Amino acid sequence: MIYPIVVYGDPVLKKRGKDLEKGKTDVIQLSNDMFETMEGANGIGLAAPQIGKSIRMFVVDGTPIEDDEEDMSDFRKVFINPEIIEEYGDEWAFEEGCLSIPDIREEVERHEKLKIHYFDENWKEHEEEFDGMKARIIQHEYDHIEGVLFTDHISPFKKKLLKGKLTNISKGKVKTSYRIKIPITGKR
Ligand code: NI
Repeated sequence: MIYPIVVYGDPVLKKRGKDLEKGKTDVIQLSNDMFETMEGANGIGLAAPQIGKSIRMFVVDGTPIEDDEEDMSDFRKVFINPEIIEEYGDEWAFEEGCLSIPDIREEVERHEKLKIHYFDENWKEHEEEFDGMKARIIQHEYDHIEGVLFTDHISPFKKKLLKGKLTNISKGKVKTSYRIKIPITGKR
């Protein structure tokens, strides 16, 4: 099932997700749906809040960028109840985008490496280290389940310049190749 993608302005994107309980959610079904939704939007990562679910889960798939990035062939994973244990290495900047913030790309500085503890879709426990683009994709998606967007990492000046675009997105005034859920603010 393909979900509409929640965009900038929806409160669910600003909330910290809750841990999942084993046996309560069909995580196989949900991860399949998340992969399908992500692929339908040509994404390389998707976090549960982006389909309106305030839970600690995200999926990644680096295979579409295999030609530009080495080592991505096995980087198709589900992260459940992840906890980043540490981030280390030099910070490096890269222009990031987000399915919830269509048409905007900005440079974000992130640490080169991280160590993360998580469960996969079979509730198998993992502790792994990632670096480079893999680490960046994980950091971006991890931010989502913490209620943080990449626009929260840019300077107040740059954010001010984007204000009009961001407001338009929250009103649904943006073109996307995928279905979006327009935030309802209740404000007039
Ligand atoms: Ni994103």
